[in-house]
Amino acid sequence: MKVIVIGATGTIGNEVAKALAAKKHEVVHASRHGKARVDLEDQASIRAMFGTVRNPDAVVCCAGDAVFKPFAELADADYALGLRSKLMGQVSLARVSMDHLRDGGSITLTAGSLAREPMPGSASISLVNAGLEGFVRAAALEMPRGLRINVVSPPWVRETLIELGMDPAIGLPASEVAKAYVAAVEGKQQGAVLDPRQLG
Ligand SMILES: NC(=O)c1ccc[n+]([C@@H]2O[C@H](COP(=O)([O-])OP(=O)(O)OC[C@H]3O[C@@H](n4cnc5c(N)ncnc54)[C@H](OP(=O)(O)O)[C@@H]3O)[C@@H](O)[C@H]2O)c1
Repeated sequence: MKVIVIGATGTIGNEVAKALAAKKHEVVHASRHGKARVDLEDQASIRAMFGTVRNPDAVVCCAGDAVFKPFAELADADYALGLRSKLMGQVSLARVSMDHLRDGGSITLTAGSLAREPMPGSASISLVNAGLEGFVRAAALEMPRGLRINVVSPPWVRETLIELGMDPAIGLPASEVAKAYVAAVEGKQQGAVLDPRQLG
């Protein structure tokens, strides 16, 4: 399959791109500074990406910013970033992708376990992640041409916790998280919220 991975240079996306390539898929690395250029916050750039990357079978998004900060310190701009980037950026991607994917293709977005397992500091991210999970469940009901849409909701990634100086014990390695994205691309799920900890 020809698979666009947005955020392919990131902690999760890099492992997703590697895992898909290992399974002989043709992977297009996309991001703001990647080989294929796209900025999730700019719908015109999403359309332009599909102008250069023709007829993909799948699009996987491992990108989108949101702010982790104590509730009392979260400012309007922090909420706005999460809504504009991680939430509406991925909603835009899904909407535009519908016009460009081959019949039977798939869209895989990224939310996060903070949607259902909040912690102090996660109010803005939990809001965005829960929005994405609801969006995908509902959008799946109206996908045309056999298209599928799913969302991976990863827990903390071990490499990220190490980078942030937090206890890595509760984290899952990015290579394990990546398996959920591969399952979403290769499987038959529709409207699913995939938790990489629950892959059998
Ligand atoms: N890491 C975790 O513990 C964890 C846990 C749960 C959920 N998540 C979610 O998973 C996603 C990826 O996390 P990560 O830790 O892998 O991030 P990361 O290491 O910071 O990488 C982000 C990737 O996304 C690209 N990117 C950022 N903003 C973009 C934009 N506006 N348009 C297009 N590409 C953009 C970056 O490349 P460019 O700079 O070239 O654009 C980079 O390739 C995020 O949405 C995050 O909230 C992460």
